[in-house]
Amino acid sequence: MADANMPLAGRVAVVTGGAKGIGFAVANDLGRRGASVLVADQAGADYAAARLCGAGLQAAALKVDVASEADTGALAKAATEAFGGVDILINNAGIYSTLAPRPFEEIDAAEWRRVMEVNTLGIFLCCRAVLPLMKARGGGRIVNISSGVAFKGNPWMAHYVASKGAVVSLTRALATELGPFNILVNSVAPGFTLSDGVLENPGLAERVRQPSVRTRVLAREMTPADLVGAIAFFAGPDGAFVTGQTLVVDGGAYFH
Ligand code: NAI
Repeated sequence: MADANMPLAGRVAVVTGGAKGIGFAVANDLGRRGASVLVADQAGADYAAARLCGAGLQAAALKVDVASEADTGALAKAATEAFGGVDILINNAGIYSTLAPRPFEEIDAAEWRRVMEVNTLGIFLCCRAVLPLMKARGGGRIVNISSGVAFKGNPWMAHYVASKGAVVSLTRALATELGPFNILVNSVAPGFTLSDGVLENPGLAERVRQPSVRTRVLAREMTPADLVGAIAFFAGPDGAFVTGQTLVVDGGAYFH
């Protein structure tokens, strides 16, 4: 009988952008629920995986730029070598906290392209890379990290807002295409979260911290720990008949 405290025992999870911030919190949480975790990040993956292993969890690391076809091509091989396959993919890597707020007409095309490449092409490439492995295991779970801004249309970061809207739509399209393979695809849309990236950018934190708390029904700051339960729901046995959905987790700022 399955251990209720380890609902993901025997599962293999890939967490992109898992070296820090929300991604690290998710990697740690999935590991504690019994999954073996491949931390896939362009920086700091080895250190993060070592921290997880040090805490007694099963973890491995891969340096990967999710926007690179060559890098993501290596994802399936690395997961297979480390843990024998992939059951869960958390598409969390994204560009956010380093973006300078700007009116849309001042965003240059190169920055627009890079945001789209990492936040949308990256998800496409990672999903494509692990698809054969999920099919081989008879199913899988994909959780894409969108953002509450996709619904609110926040100003000064039109590229980011557009990219996160695309994540919601891509989630629906993939859910439809992959349902027949028992691969469930859902999305979580966080509100403003005090992740490592946000805290490393004091300007952003100062600007958005208080206003975001004021818009919430649950009027407090949000941390990565507030997200892990929703993501684990979609990744685990309790979410077995849910696909194509986006769950906004933001303390009740936006009712989706
Ligand atoms: P963070 O900056 O704390 O961590 C991001 C991680 O992703 C880093 O380890 C970084 O190296 C990695 N990464 C970035 N680009 C990558 C690439 N091309 N390939 C591989 N790894 C890459 O970020 P945070 O705040 O934890 O955000 C995580 C996700 O949550 C992002 O998709 C972000 O858009 C989304 N999000 C964040 C919110 C927030 O307020 N922090 C709110 C809503 C959504």
